[in-house]
Amino acid sequence: MLRDKWCGELNAADIGARCTLAGWVFRRRDHGGLIFIDLRDRSGLVQIVFSPDVSKETHSRAHDLRSEFVIAVSGDVRKRPEGTENLNLPTGMIELYVDTLTVLNEAETLPFPMEEAGEASESLRLKYRYLDLRRPELQNNLIVRHKVTKIVRDYLDEQGFLEIETPVLTKSTPEGARDYLVPSRLNPGQFYALPQSPQLFKQILMVSGLERYFQIVKCFRDEDLRADRQPEFTQIDMEMSFINREDIMGLIELLLKKLFQDVLHTDIQVPFKRLGFTESMERFGNDKPDMRFALELRDMADLASKGTFKVFLDALASGGRVKAINGKGMAGLSRKEIDTLTEEAQSFGAKGLAWIKIKAGFDSPIAKFFPEEVLKQMAERLDAEEGDLMLFVADREKVVHDVLSRMRLELGKRLNLIKDEFNFVWITDFPLLEWDEDERRFVAIHHPFTSPLDDDLPRLFAASGSADRELTASFKAKAYDIVLNGCEIGGGSIRIHRRDVQKKIFELLGISEDEARVKFGFLLDALDFGAPPHGGLALGLDRLVMLMVGAQSIRDVIAFPKTQKAVCNLSGAPSTVEPKQLKDLFIKVDAPL
Ligand code: AMO
Ligand code: AMP
Repeated sequence: MLRDKWCGELNAADIGARCTLAGWVFRRRDHGGLIFIDLRDRSGLVQIVFSPDVSKETHSRAHDLRSEFVIAVSGDVRKRPEGTENLNLPTGMIELYVDTLTVLNEAETLPFPMEEAGEASESLRLKYRYLDLRRPELQNNLIVRHKVTKIVRDYLDEQGFLEIETPVLTKSTPEGARDYLVPSRLNPGQFYALPQSPQLFKQILMVSGLERYFQIVKCFRDEDLRADRQPEFTQIDMEMSFINREDIMGLIELLLKKLFQDVLHTDIQVPFKRLGFTESMERFGNDKPDMRFALELRDMADLASKGTFKVFLDALASGGRVKAINGKGMAGLSRKEIDTLTEEAQSFGAKGLAWIKIKAGFDSPIAKFFPEEVLKQMAERLDAEEGDLMLFVADREKVVHDVLSRMRLELGKRLNLIKDEFNFVWITDFPLLEWDEDERRFVAIHHPFTSPLDDDLPRLFAASGSADRELTASFKAKAYDIVLNGCEIGGGSIRIHRRDVQKKIFELLGISEDEARVKFGFLLDALDFGAPPHGGLALGLDRLVMLMVGAQSIRDVIAFPKTQKAVCNLSGAPSTVEPKQLKDLFIKVDAPL
């Protein structure tokens, strides 16, 4: 070893001992006679001191040390003089007086100063990710991530799960995002798809009798990227046989409880709250409600219809909705500020944002369209009082919910309503199938192997799909998502293991037997040979760790993430390839330059 202790380990117990440390030069202060350096390794910082009284030669060489030089130093650990201790630093009571210095490596001038690395632009940080990753904050994120995966492995092992790898070069899976494709040289014109999840394989493992599977696994989805979405991300993927919903939900709750306890020393209450999908949409406008604050959406249709405001009446007449939220204490907003709020709503897809201030009566351009009594009822329904601002959106249901759920989050932040806590909720009873207007057919909300609720089975067998849309859209799935602080951190379902049910679902989806065989034939075949009842769930590891460490983006918990344009700034991927490589694959590129 080039060292006998880590920097962050040194403490008062080492006073008087001789010690060799190694690490990077972080901060350097030249105080006339003495040179102070904060030496950094993964464990933290320690102050090392170069004094001409200890070694003239070493002291003089210390003048040449620059930021991020890699050095090894030996010397005596001393107690810091009275008044110079640094209580913010775990090693702040001591310092190492260096007599021997070895420069292990020098460093070029950095593209950004290490001390302010966190403020450098993200694209620069991603380009020099190896420097960015020297920041304690990012190192901590990776440490937490490591702890999480270790605890997950140990816990699931104890519960009888086997970690089994599944192929990365495979066939399209049913999650429904766009696939990443890999051409096959040995099979010209044919492609593998990178898995969007190991869904089909883990179900097959259940048919094989492995009973309990898990994998911490990379998944690939070519979708529009956001702060909580990466083209390649990691799932804690699980599947179990001979279980029902309660079993898997209970297992996940205990796993998360253990993770938060062991990693963050935070006690989280189980069982988690549960909310049906429909109730979640009605109260929060989406299926991943942030329940750290109230500010719920309220239906205003009945009251809106008692007035003469055309925007509201038109929306209702065409089958739409009118809903509202209460901007608590926001009646003081100026016209200009309300215009900005309206623009925000419009950027979320609304045509406009109707508002009523409760300020010495009802102050609003639309107040005149409603009897005083109705305005009062509106306020009552929103728990609005003097000083509040009622905000309304009228539109198709989807737009109303999209816009108001986003306005709700904006207001939650603006009004400082969001509690500092970990708030878990299960969303259950998702619809099984959803009408896709573009494709003019039903599509599976989760995936086509998701089991319907048992109670729905008789009606399901009687349904005919597009011919009776209302009935077909009414079936519920044995699917569940887990949401933490407004972020979907996992999802899963009980699968269909009965051939007749699976066949019926394909029929309702308008997928012919042949089509189903081409797409998922190997799973369908497997299900014919004694498939046990089974189900599972996948947690999004990146999102979970992001929330645990309080990061703003999953990029901060991934060592080498991609940008919003799916580019790796560090390696330069994706890139063009040699013509010979394309020729071998029989590929002609026809891309706009
Ligand atoms: P699902 O598609 O819900 O389920 O994915 C599971 C979880 O993975 C995370 N996730 C993502 N994280 C980062 N970037 C992405 N692009 C991304 N996409 C998804 C989310 C999500 O909840 N096979 C099923 C699971 C099952 O049914 O067992 C599946 O993949 O946190
Ligand atoms: P207008 O009749 O266009 O002058 O709009 C009157 C008010 O209604 C303005 O505050 C608009 O922002 C608002 N508004 C317009 N369309 C909608 C809508 N679909 N939902 C809610 N408010 C709207």
